[in-house]
Amino acid sequence: MIETISRLDALRARVAGWKREGLRVGFVPTMGNLHAGHYSLVALARRHADRVVSSVFVNPTQFGPNEDFTRYPRTPEADTRGLQDAGCDVLWLPEVEAMYPFGVELAAKVHVPGVSTVLEGACRPGHFDGVCTVVTRLFNQVQPDVAAFGRKDYQQLAVIRQLVADLQMPVEILAGEIVREPDGLAMSSRNQYLSPQERALAPVIHRTLRAMQAAAQAGTPRAQVEAAADAALRAAGFVPDYAVLRHPDFREPGDAEGGPRVALIAARLGRTRLIDNLEFDLT
Ligand code: PAJ
Repeated sequence: MIETISRLDALRARVAGWKREGLRVGFVPTMGNLHAGHYSLVALARRHADRVVSSVFVNPTQFGPNEDFTRYPRTPEADTRGLQDAGCDVLWLPEVEAMYPFGVELAAKVHVPGVSTVLEGACRPGHFDGVCTVVTRLFNQVQPDVAAFGRKDYQQLAVIRQLVADLQMPVEILAGEIVREPDGLAMSSRNQYLSPQERALAPVIHRTLRAMQAAAQAGTPRAQVEAAADAALRAAGFVPDYAVLRHPDFREPGDAEGGPRVALIAARLGRTRLIDNLEFDLT
């Protein structure tokens, strides 16, 4: 039976008990409204740990002033049932006061330079500071041995890896594969903002990523790949924030260079902002 904990002292006591028994603790941080992508991370954490904690906390500090914090979907009952079925032992469900005891305004902030300033960081100023701040707090609360993050948020994963390495946090980071709908749309809590018409268009993002991969592998210059992706998204009714081809560390690749690549897209469809990516190799 899953146990829901909302008080920090109770969480610490539970985890301390496990550690006294020599058990390895896995952790999956989320903002709730859970789907198969989140549950795959619980399964991944399970494979690397004896006990799994998942958190559900819609973190106010990672949303911009005009973003969707207030309308972000909150479905605690379904999340609890799903986490139980996925094999999670403890649901950590902190109140805002438990997460930010001195208030959100006075909270110490964690900033990771470099990787958090490009692409998503440039489009959503302060977003990754909010993510790093809350993930640091969550790691200090749960004190996991391993924590699982999805490749769906490719840049977030890179920022978290940098955070953990730089602050020497004793947490192993696991990366979970992107879980998609049958038509290719990456699962996301934000997909439910889409109208039926928008939902029918949404897989264009994944198709565009695949077209970027095919074009890059056929030797098309990067600028041309990116321009074609931008045009394809606009033609389908999206407003892209970016559609780019990068090295895994976000450097812009030269056209003659081989090696691993990632195509990354962020685009708005009506009121909904969707992100997705595709990793591949250029030989
Ligand atoms: P959230 O958007 O709820 O995502 C929680 C985790 O699930 C993230 O690691 C994300 O990459 C992963 N995830 C989401 N959709 C996925 C999919 N389709 N396939 C695989 N993994 C997927 O990311 C956050 O919350 C927050 O920023 C958080 C890290 C919890 C900090 O507040």
